[in-house]
Amino acid sequence: LRPIHRLLSCPGTAAADARRERQSSGSTETGSEERTPKKRFSEVQKERREQAQRTILILCPNKTSEKKFLKYLSQHGPINNHFFFESFGLYAVVEFCQKESVASLQNLTRTPSMGTEAAIPFRSRFFNLKLKNSSDQTSEQPCMPRCNQSPPSSKKLFELLCDAESIDDQLNTLLKEFQLTEENTKLRYLTCSLIEDIAAAYFPGCAVRPFGSSVNSFGKLGCDLDMFLALDEIGNFNAHKTSGNFLMEFQVKNVSSERIATQKILSVIGECLDNFGPGCVGVQKILNARCPLVRFSHQASGFQCDLTTNNRIALKSSELLYIYGTLDSRVRAMVFSIRCWARAHSLTSSIPGAWITNFSLTMMVIFFLQRRSPPILPTLDYLKTLADAEDKCIIEGHNCTFISDLNRIEPSKNTEPLELLLKEFFEFFGNFAFNKNSINIRQGREQNKPESSPLHIQNPFETSLNISKNVSQSQLQKFVDLARESAWILHQEEKDHPSPSSNQPWGLAALLLPSVAKSTSHGKKKRKKPASERIKNLLESIKNPENSTNINGKRT
Ligand code: GTP
Ligand code: MG
Repeated sequence: LRPIHRLLSCPGTAAADARRERQSSGSTETGSEERTPKKRFSEVQKERREQAQRTILILCPNKTSEKKFLKYLSQHGPINNHFFFESFGLYAVVEFCQKESVASLQNLTRTPSMGTEAAIPFRSRFFNLKLKNSSDQTSEQPCMPRCNQSPPSSKKLFELLCDAESIDDQLNTLLKEFQLTEENTKLRYLTCSLIEDIAAAYFPGCAVRPFGSSVNSFGKLGCDLDMFLALDEIGNFNAHKTSGNFLMEFQVKNVSSERIATQKILSVIGECLDNFGPGCVGVQKILNARCPLVRFSHQASGFQCDLTTNNRIALKSSELLYIYGTLDSRVRAMVFSIRCWARAHSLTSSIPGAWITNFSLTMMVIFFLQRRSPPILPTLDYLKTLADAEDKCIIEGHNCTFISDLNRIEPSKNTEPLELLLKEFFEFFGNFAFNKNSINIRQGREQNKPESSPLHIQNPFETSLNISKNVSQSQLQKFVDLARESAWILHQEEKDHPSPSSNQPWGLAALLLPSVAKSTSHGKKKRKKPASERIKNLLESIKNPENSTNINGKRT
């Protein structure tokens, strides 16, 4: 049946997928199939932040009875929703309807007496629930459901992919399994909000905002939590409203550069987290990096956190990616699959180095989708032309203006199925002239490379910068080789129609297998190139009209 599924473009199925996805993730995403209103990035941020401020985190005894627990907490006010999850213990996330309930609970909470140790009395929203009498709780209660916060194992993923009905179905399955759940998203905003409470001890009125893949619609369960401390909102709210002859300024301490100010601020926040941040462990101050940061683990939520400051451009690029990821349901399915493919073949790594980053891969997918005919995604320059006065945004002299209202962007007329896009992606980058061209999502077409880095992807806002400057020639070559091989495997499959019931990994599952990598990376260097070149030539010969094949692999 698979080839038939593959041949049909099923708008009904795609729409149902998008609906199911929205229900499970709480996201507002739709593809071109549906036109339900989509929320602006700033609206999502505002709502989630406000929600997080009336939410608490509780370490619970394992025996906790859900009913009694909720009854006890409800004394402080109505509860909007709650969930439990397992990390280093059993935790509950409880969202009250009103912020006042949190203060009411805090007023009733005591600081523990520690015996030989001493407690630093910090009034946070992270509580420890103790049972006065363990027999108090009904142990006959069935185990309450715990929300899973981790991605599926490779084994489970392979099973799911092999059971799928088509390659399109495989890409959507991978997305559904890996994307951030509603609960995980809530936990991310709550963690930022808890860190904000700590930072606010020094800087009242500051905000700690998540950015990167936690908010840009491309986050995968288990990804790090990038957050930045926004201090530019402090103290200037009503400045323009003051009347009279005087202008009031805060008396402040000056330092010789913005960078030193950032380092000093992050240094004290790092100390705060280390000294009195409940659940913050392994605090590292990495202040000499190009972008200084404090890295730590938030033990309860299990997130690896990177805290920076003065990062408004990164927040703007998160918004841009959110727009691209939300415009059409195929975008996220493609990005998740390509990221997963790259990780499976060690093209990406959690350690910084000469490899391609997830951010660069996302840009490559966006660029590829802009190059389709008709385009699936608009160029950044086009999004700029749609912007209205309130969208105007200049940060440190860089024009970061683009439309924020997604509903005013026309959906794409392109109806290409994911299977085709996946194959074409590998062919596109398997043949891309990386030696002379730069990838540019602002203009949606390749440009002459302004400098000699092996891979050049223009930073969309700081246009003189290359976001993939770190990538070495050998890593790029590995990417190209794997892309060609993957295109080849998909072509072969079209011809051979492996049976889904044969238990052989097929489609996306076959592309994730290490054997694909082996044939390129295990061989001697000398043999690598010819293999890759041969595949390229073979692919070209297939594309040649005389030898061309249709989607079923039949000669035409
Ligand atoms: P994950 O791998 O899932 O964490 O993806 P991510 O998008 O969160 O990437 P990462 O944590 O490495 O970086 C967080 C954010 O910082 C990205 O989303 C970008 O907005 C920004 N960023 C990362 N790398 C670069 C870069 O090389 N240049 C620029 N300008 N911004 C970057
Ligand atoms: Mg990240």
